[in-house]
Amino acid sequence: MEDLRVLAKRRVPRMFYEYADSGSWTEGTYRSNQEDFEKIKLRQRVGVSIESRSTAATMLGRGVALPVAIAPTGLTGMQHADGEMLAARAARDFGVPFTLSTMSICSIEDVAQALNGDPFWFQVYVMRDRRFVERLIARAKAANVGALVLTLDLPVSGQRHKDLKNGLSAPPKLTLSNFANILGKPRWWWNMLRTRRRTLGNIVGHIEGIGSTTLLSEWCAQQFDPTLSWEDVRWIRRLWHGKLIVKGIQDVQDAHHAIAAGADAIVVSNHGGRQLDGAISSIRALPLIAEQVGTQIEVHMDGGIRSGQDVLKALALGAKGTYIGRSMLYGLGALGQRGVTRALEIIQKELDLTMAFCGYLRPGDVDRSILLDEFGLPYLPQQSARLLASRFVAAQTSQTSPELRVG
Ligand code: GLV
Repeated sequence: MEDLRVLAKRRVPRMFYEYADSGSWTEGTYRSNQEDFEKIKLRQRVGVSIESRSTAATMLGRGVALPVAIAPTGLTGMQHADGEMLAARAARDFGVPFTLSTMSICSIEDVAQALNGDPFWFQVYVMRDRRFVERLIARAKAANVGALVLTLDLPVSGQRHKDLKNGLSAPPKLTLSNFANILGKPRWWWNMLRTRRRTLGNIVGHIEGIGSTTLLSEWCAQQFDPTLSWEDVRWIRRLWHGKLIVKGIQDVQDAHHAIAAGADAIVVSNHGGRQLDGAISSIRALPLIAEQVGTQIEVHMDGGIRSGQDVLKALALGAKGTYIGRSMLYGLGALGQRGVTRALEIIQKELDLTMAFCGYLRPGDVDRSILLDEFGLPYLPQQSARLLASRFVAAQTSQTSPELRVG
């Protein structure tokens, strides 16, 4: 995966590579999404027959080749010409769901056509213009969308310094420095010159007053609705009768709100570390949420997944499915459709071998007993860990240590 990232960085114009590969403010949450996966260790087992393994699983009642969907990512068609169509085909052929972002370059209709009517998932934002949202949902229905992913963690946009410095827009504004950078990416611009899809395909022409070169951060500030509330989720639930996935949950209470609003699944997510810098990593947020609501609603997660080991750790902590955003974009930027397939193959192979080393045959069978903490101790459910910690603190403070006596 790292090879794909390096190749993507070389081939994709800086403005778009950095749009994908960055977080908000200090990028602390962005980094911790990956770092916290690394802190979780796996329990190796031997002497278990592991011959008839399969990575197959189900997400929202549908069979998938592995429990990894493609996350909605903005401006995917700027990582590679026609990027959303290529990634959608790669995902469909591999047997995993593809989620198209509202902020995509290829439109809902482009992707439906690329898939010859096969289903895909569509991510929607609540915009100030509710009629536009209604039309988006109607377009999604007409395009045979299988699940609607409603993102709740972007009522305002997190500040991403790199985008401001690069003057991010789609298509890129041709300043001298952008032009010089793009000139050095011949594969990218050669493919881009041969497609007509170079603006926000779901939006330009569908909302009045949106020029194709509007600065993305300004556009988000104008269009995204800061009044977004659970009432809006209920409104969308009434408009959309298919599967509804609510994305951007980091808190148990919000997970309960999503259940009450009629969601079929939630995605534990901090938007890839792009929104609230300082939020805990997704893999840290997941276990408590899965413990509390996992029997009432299907729990998915995204954020920091770069390997099959990461997928297995998320499943062990209660996720029924995971999503890859950047891992897919690295493949796409590096090698187009073939690169997305490659990224999925890498993750599938790692997942398969990691299950084998842990003594498991199916991803759906793993639980936290396959995990160890950084000290090689069992990875405790959060409730028990908290209970133990509070007993420890109570035991310490009741000891009559010299300092305490003096105090
Ligand atoms: C859009 O969803 C973004 O994170 O840029």
